[in-house]
Amino acid sequence: MNNLNTKKLDQIIKAYKGKPGELLGVMGEAQKASMRNYLSQDTLFYIASKLQLPASQIYSVATFYTFFNLKPQGDHCIIVCRGTACHTRGSKNLLRSIALTLGLKEEDLRENEKVFVTTKDNKFTVKTVACFGQCALAPVIDIDGKIYSHMTEAKIRRLIRQAGKKKV
Ligand code: FES
Repeated sequence: MNNLNTKKLDQIIKAYKGKPGELLGVMGEAQKASMRNYLSQDTLFYIASKLQLPASQIYSVATFYTFFNLKPQGDHCIIVCRGTACHTRGSKNLLRSIALTLGLKEEDLRENEKVFVTTKDNKFTVKTVACFGQCALAPVIDIDGKIYSHMTEAKIRRLIRQAGKKKV
């Protein structure tokens, strides 16, 4: 298993056995315990076999909930909302500014496509979502699980500098 040791995974499965929300709990803990905060294919298959569920069901859950990651994550995660309200209030420029600050390439931010890119040093992952459901606060960004509203390019550059200094 490349992303998670099976001993740890067995402990997680045992801890959630028969409890409400067993599958979500196991998947969430498995992701947290992984090296780069994601659920590898091996991990998904392992959970499926241990819980005696079809792999397709596990995969559906993993892809339905945005907090599950199917790719390795950087030390810090920046999620930019690209919904209509955020778009009209400048989220595209915010995304460009983030890319510039982190040295990402313009082609990593393909228009009309979901963005998922990690810097070469694995320090930052940048993603987009369709809507955080907080449109009145647009433009909205999530950094490491904390929502920031009325974001500006100056603010995001400052937050990136601060996040980069934090020990992970
Ligand atoms: S469009 Fe950005 S929070 Fe809804």
